[in-house]
Amino acid sequence: MVQDEVEQMTIKSKSQFKRVLLKLSGEALQGDKGFGIDPVVITNIADEIKDVHAMGVEIALVIGGGNIFRGLAASTQGMDRASADYMGMLATTLNALALQDALERIGVVTRVQSAIAMQELCEPYIRRKAIRHLEKGRVVIFAAGTGNPYFTTDTAASLRAMEIHAEAILKATKVDGVYNKDPNKHKDAKLYDKVTYLDVLKEGLEVMDSTAISLCMDNNMEIYVFNMTKKGNIKRILMGQKLGTIVSKKI
Ligand code: GTP
Repeated sequence: MVQDEVEQMTIKSKSQFKRVLLKLSGEALQGDKGFGIDPVVITNIADEIKDVHAMGVEIALVIGGGNIFRGLAASTQGMDRASADYMGMLATTLNALALQDALERIGVVTRVQSAIAMQELCEPYIRRKAIRHLEKGRVVIFAAGTGNPYFTTDTAASLRAMEIHAEAILKATKVDGVYNKDPNKHKDAKLYDKVTYLDVLKEGLEVMDSTAISLCMDNNMEIYVFNMTKKGNIKRILMGQKLGTIVSKKI
């Protein structure tokens, strides 16, 4: 075995997971701009993904669209919810294509699959093909949510994680994990290191919406909630460091 392969195997063995689904919010791409895609921020995110990809971990991505369009917010202002959600799904596709570009510029091979057919832009979502891409070492980016209105991109992340047999969902946020109350408003907010799905649902903790949490609960899919603004956190989780909050069946 050549030296490179030996090194790669040693690094690989350090990751606790072989296949994960990383959920990013659209806002993660906007940086301080408050809207759209910040080229520096997206480059940094791509670098982090490249780092963990180099560990030999198979990575699928679901990205939100809130930096461009928020379906739910538009519907509260009178827009038809379904139309607003479809616009949100298009926003996730813009982000997926931007992330694909950022990753491929630094040499990470990717495939974008969309839940809504846009054949000229990207592949349609085909579960078995997505798995094949992962096995071949490609980062797969799932665009357009579940393809259905009334479902969030968090639900899309849960669904896709199940479908591709990911071992965990890594849910990126702007804070360190799950708190008992909003840490931006309350100085005494307590960070949980572990919570159950039921706690999240009963206490209305803001991790993911209830559809997404229920899906994870019914299928025993653990969610690792962590702070994406701190460089290296994805790698730390994969290497088993205690970080952020784990949402699971039991604590
Ligand atoms: P394998 O050959 O199975 O390893 O996968 P592959 O993705 O390399 O092969 P394929 O021929 O399916 O795809 C070649 C390129 O075309 C990739 O960049 C795909 O993302 C892209 N591609 C495949 N299907 C579609 C499609 O329906 N629409 C668009 N826009 N691109 C596609």
